[in-house]
Amino acid sequence: MSNKNVDLLVGAQWGDEGKGKVVDILGSEVDVFVRYQGGANAGHTVVADGQKVVFHLLPSGMLYPGKLCVLGNGLVIDPEQFLNETGELFSKGQDKARLAVSPHAHVVMPYHKMLDKLQEESRGKGRKIGTTGRGIGPCYVDKYSRSGLRIEDLINPDVLRERLTYILEEKNQIFTKLYGQKPLPFDEVFEPARKWGEAIAPYVDDTRALLRRAVDEGKHVLLEGAQAALLDIDHGTYPYVTSSSTSASGAFTGTGLAPNDLTRVISVVKAYTTRVGEGPFPTEDFTEAGETLRKNGGEFGATTGRPRRCGWLDVPALKYATELNGANVIALTKLDVLTGMGDIKVCTSYDRNGEKVTSWPTDTRVLSEFKPVYETLPGWDEDITECKNFDDLPENAKSYVRYIEEVLHTPVGLIGVGPDRNQTINRGI
Ligand code: IMP
Repeated sequence: MSNKNVDLLVGAQWGDEGKGKVVDILGSEVDVFVRYQGGANAGHTVVADGQKVVFHLLPSGMLYPGKLCVLGNGLVIDPEQFLNETGELFSKGQDKARLAVSPHAHVVMPYHKMLDKLQEESRGKGRKIGTTGRGIGPCYVDKYSRSGLRIEDLINPDVLRERLTYILEEKNQIFTKLYGQKPLPFDEVFEPARKWGEAIAPYVDDTRALLRRAVDEGKHVLLEGAQAALLDIDHGTYPYVTSSSTSASGAFTGTGLAPNDLTRVISVVKAYTTRVGEGPFPTEDFTEAGETLRKNGGEFGATTGRPRRCGWLDVPALKYATELNGANVIALTKLDVLTGMGDIKVCTSYDRNGEKVTSWPTDTRVLSEFKPVYETLPGWDEDITECKNFDDLPENAKSYVRYIEEVLHTPVGLIGVGPDRNQTINRGI
């Protein structure tokens, strides 16, 4: 019998489902925390003992001293962000030896961030993606066009010098000829990068082998997805997506673990829907209700501070995400935000020029023509932020949870009823 114990935690909407909090709750039983895709575009908020910490790059498990935290090969790592986040944590006495960085992860260089901004500006009105400006897309482009710098290049000054010389030549052609910018002087890029390499080198390790050993020894490994299924580069609302594989399958390319290592997929679903940046969002609510969700849910981007677009639960979208991720169990977050909202709307299908559509379309451009068809469920006014057990919840809140379980054919194992670690109903996740 297999003694494997590998959980994968993924978002089911457009990100910001509250994954950081769920990781944090599971944390005390986890031995190894892993991030495997994306970069500092993520913003995982953890509130512990009333103190709020936001991680952009490091795994949320960093708050548990002594555990192993891994940044896998699928990540794009901004060295400045890495050093800021580790510096801040370790100055508070965190055990340094427990963080391992893959030599195969790619480096987000300053020119990636510059390109991200220039590309967004040049896209013009109606074509912008609304990126976080963290250089994610341009860095993944370089990875796939094989002109990227990996962490293993960054920590070797000779290789860094050699590769950066011709990479920068090409980038400078783009900056000067396409965008009319000044070229970047080599030394201004090389010198800081060399120092970042020096500072990161002690953390670099063969993360694939570390994880292989941990899995084979039956350690509890938690693969911590960033962003979410509907932002997936292949399966999301392209081109309004991020540049990595955010649904379950990305966990394998991003770590070197194999699909049969996985024992469980936890899908994180927010009790309503939000989206940051551009792109289709059928259940977006432009009325007072959307405003209330934003205010009560504190729906402002953890990375960019942008107000999030808010709306109701979208069942066809969630069914699609649940299938994509192969979810075994749902962690339902922010149920308390629906308190006092009156009737709760849930989109069960779409109306496309009089035609009823019940499933998520392959061509997501047509979503802008879809009108959501809502079912109305009764809401509740009682404060649920102190509820510790499912039975403590008001009847209508319980029905809402059961409704989600039924339509998604997946049990809800955890319910968030407030921002703090303790404000959680654990039904045995
Ligand atoms: P990028 O990842 O910065 O390239 O941005 C691409 C799209 O993904 C934009 O719409 C961003 O707002 C969105 N996005 C990226 N990271 C996150 C996240 O962690 N939460 C929510 N949306 C995100």
